[in-house]
Amino acid sequence: MYTSRIAGMGKFVPDNVVTNDDLAEMMDTNDAWIQERTGIKERRHILKEDDNTTATMGVKAATIALERAGVDKNDVDLIVFATLSPDYYFPGCGVQVQDLMGIHTCPALDVRNQCSGFIYGLSVADQFIKTGMYKNILVIGSENHSGGLDFTTRGRSVSVIFGDGAGAALLTRSEKSGHGILSTHLHSEGQHALELSLKGPSTEYWVPAIMKDDPQEDIPYFPYMNGQFVFKNAVTRFSEVIMEGLQANQMQVSDIDMLIPHQANLRISQFIQKKFQLSDDQVYNNIQRYGNTTAASIPIALTEAWEEGKIKEGDRVVLAAFGSGFTWGSAIIKW
Ligand code: ACO
Repeated sequence: MYTSRIAGMGKFVPDNVVTNDDLAEMMDTNDAWIQERTGIKERRHILKEDDNTTATMGVKAATIALERAGVDKNDVDLIVFATLSPDYYFPGCGVQVQDLMGIHTCPALDVRNQCSGFIYGLSVADQFIKTGMYKNILVIGSENHSGGLDFTTRGRSVSVIFGDGAGAALLTRSEKSGHGILSTHLHSEGQHALELSLKGPSTEYWVPAIMKDDPQEDIPYFPYMNGQFVFKNAVTRFSEVIMEGLQANQMQVSDIDMLIPHQANLRISQFIQKKFQLSDDQVYNNIQRYGNTTAASIPIALTEAWEEGKIKEGDRVVLAAFGSGFTWGSAIIKW
């Protein structure tokens, strides 16, 4: 039986920094409200004149991950691309990445699991490697949120939270047991699908939504989030799925060297940290600088934690996410 391990990580964020004060010029909000409720100080937004899109940012992050892994692009056997903000309604960003990177005819698939997308993608990749079907798999999470948010006061409870960026991991086959991705744990609960959703453009809302341009109307092509309901579910599910992962590997909370929670809201991370009595050194957060980058948040945070020397060989790293769907999951890794 093979195992999979992360051989290289990369990240890319646009240069354009948008502070809370910048947002306050567009809508009725302020730095104190945003920081107090979310911990976010600034985020990155793609500029229209940039060549950055969800797919191209994914390529930039993936190129770094491949270089660090020492794997040639032609040895990639599968591309898994997680996003809720693809460049096109179809086809997905996976095939765009393949084309932009000049990779041969390997399969490319898109994962539509929002904030849990990277962990779902990692799990898919892990299964393909464990069975021996593939050797090298690129898992990418990338989001262009700023292109689809309502930056008027009407949309402030959602638009201040999200930011743009991409992260990527190159997973490779290992024949050494007891390290790499030890296990992944996935869940979903579709009964709450519309509590955090974007209904249109879609086959249901597409034409009517696009044809109407009246800002007074209840247009379904901006995201909707029932913030407090999502928050309450997030703290419960985060805790459950972290414990599930630890128990599956006969690990205790004290065995965690680094917890990288999806960067949804600093208050959620702090709640989990307090509940599990983890020290500041055991939890990595960067939402203060990037906001919530959904499928990109875990690979961006994992890359930065590794770049800063906070993850070392042999460390037990726990990834955990919760988001729209609802979907949630965890991954337990021995680095
Ligand atoms: N600036 C100033 N005031 C605001 C803003 C803003 N940006 N947004 C909302 N308000 C106001 C509201 O209008 C409301 O005013 P009122 O009391 O006069 O009616 C007040 O602030 C409180 O609003 P709430 O929505 O109740 O604020 P809450 O404390 O719930 O915080 C937040 C909102 C930050 C969104 C929080 O609920 C949250 O983080 N939820 C979870 C988000 C999450 O985890 N998402 C999952 C991942 S995302 C994904 O999967 C795509």
